[in-house]
Amino acid sequence: MHIRDILNDSHVDSVVKARGWVYRSRESGRLIFIVVRDSTGIVQVVVEKGAVSQEEFEIAKKASIESSIEVEGKCSKEPKAVTGYEIHASRIKIYQIAENFPITKDKSDEFLLDIRHLWLRSREMTAIMKMRETVLDSIRGYMKENDYHEVQPPMFVGGMVEGGSTLFEVPYFGEKAYLTQSSQFYLEAFMYSLENVFTISPSFRAEKSRTRRHVTEFTHYEAEAAWVGNQEMMNLEEDMIIYIARQLLSSNRDELEVVKRDIDKVRAVEKPFYRYRYEKVIEIGRQKGLQLSDASDLGEKEERTITEDFDKPMFVYNFPTQLKPFYHRPDPEDTSHVLNHDVLAPEGYGEVIGGGERIWNKDELIGRMKEENLNPEDYQWYVDLRSFGSVPHSGFGLGVDRLLTWLAGLDHINKAIPFPRTIRRLRP
Ligand code: 4AD
Ligand code: MG
Repeated sequence: MHIRDILNDSHVDSVVKARGWVYRSRESGRLIFIVVRDSTGIVQVVVEKGAVSQEEFEIAKKASIESSIEVEGKCSKEPKAVTGYEIHASRIKIYQIAENFPITKDKSDEFLLDIRHLWLRSREMTAIMKMRETVLDSIRGYMKENDYHEVQPPMFVGGMVEGGSTLFEVPYFGEKAYLTQSSQFYLEAFMYSLENVFTISPSFRAEKSRTRRHVTEFTHYEAEAAWVGNQEMMNLEEDMIIYIARQLLSSNRDELEVVKRDIDKVRAVEKPFYRYRYEKVIEIGRQKGLQLSDASDLGEKEERTITEDFDKPMFVYNFPTQLKPFYHRPDPEDTSHVLNHDVLAPEGYGEVIGGGERIWNKDELIGRMKEENLNPEDYQWYVDLRSFGSVPHSGFGLGVDRLLTWLAGLDHINKAIPFPRTIRRLRP
C-alpha cells in the first residue's frame, strides 16, 4: 500500500502497512516519532514502548534519516501529525540502518550535483521527475491525437546535422562515428512512409558554453511532417505547448507548489503566442539596449533580455539564411531568409524549439551545401531522399529539459535532468 492511499478517512481504525525511508525521527520518552516517506508522500508513525517488542523498540531508536523501513499498525486521524494521519506501530522492521546522510539544509547547488544519486530522493527532485514524466506523457498523448507515429532513430551516426563544432566523436571499429546532434535527417527518411513522425531521444552536443540552459546530453523531442509548411508547423507547436502546460496544471499542482512555481505564469500560456519576423525581434532587442547587427545570432544573453518581460512564448521566424544550417528552405520570394522558426519561452528562458521547412528540391539542397563548403557526398543518403518522390515538409526539435525548466520555473537546466551532463560533469 502506498502512503498516499493511507491518507484518508477510510483507513481510520484499520491496520495499514507502510514501507519506505525515514524522512525524520525524534524520540520523546516512551514514544518514537518516525516520519516515513515513499514515492507518493509522507506519514507519521508512532512507536510506543510496549506496543511493539522490546527488540523492535530498540531498533526503532536507530532509525536514522533514510533508513529503509516497514511498519504495520492501526491508522488514526491526527491533526497534529504532518499529513493529518498517524500509524501506531504494532510491528516494525528496518531493512538497513542508514549511515549519516550527507544532505542537510542549505547545501550549495554544486554539492547537490556531486551527490545527485542521493539528492534524487529529495522532495524537490521527486516533484521535478514527476513533472518530467507528465511532460513526456503529454507529448505522446498530443502527438497520438494528431496522428503522428513514434519512431526510433539511431544514436550512433556517420555525420553532423547542426555544425561541426559541437560533434562528439566516438571510435567505431576503425571508423569515426558521432553521437547524434539531432535525429532530424532520420525523421525525414521515416516521413516517406509514415508521413507524420516524432521521436523522443537523446541528442548530444559537445557544448563548451556554460550557461544555465546548455548540457551535453539532452532529451530531444523532434517531429517531421509531410506536406506541412513553416507557419502550419508553428500552429501545431503552439497547441502542443499549451496542451503540455494544461496537463501540468491538472496533474501536478502539488509538484508545482513544491518547486514554488507561480501557477499564474503557467496559466498564462494561452493562444495566440507572439509571432514576429526575425527583424522585428532584433528591433525589440535594440529597444532593450542590446547591441545587435542586422544578422546577429541570438544567444542566451540576448534571448534572456528579449523575453524577460514576456508572458507567453514567442515565435521568431524567417532568420537570415547565413545564420542557419544548410537544410533550411530559403524563402522563394526572398532567398536571403529561410522559412524557419524558433520558439522563445518567456520570463527570460529563451529558445526551446528550433524548426522550419526543409529544402526538398535536390539541386537546391546540393547548391546550399556547396555554399556552406560542405561535401554533398558526405550526405549521400540525405540527398538521395530527394530523388524519389520528394515532397514539401517541415519539422522541429524541442529541448524537453529546457521546456521543463521554464514550465516549472527552475533557475537552471541542471535541475530538470536527473543526471545532467555538462562540460565539467560526467558523474554521478
Ligand atoms: O535548435 P536546434 O539545434 O535544432 C536542431 O537540432 C534541429 N535539427 C531540430 C529539428 O528541426 N528537428 O536544437 C533544437 C532544440 C533547441 O531549441 C533546444 O531547446 C534544444 O534542442 N537544445 C539543447 N538543450 C539543452 N542543451 C543543449 N546543448 C541544447 N542544444 C539544443
Ligand atoms: Mg536552435
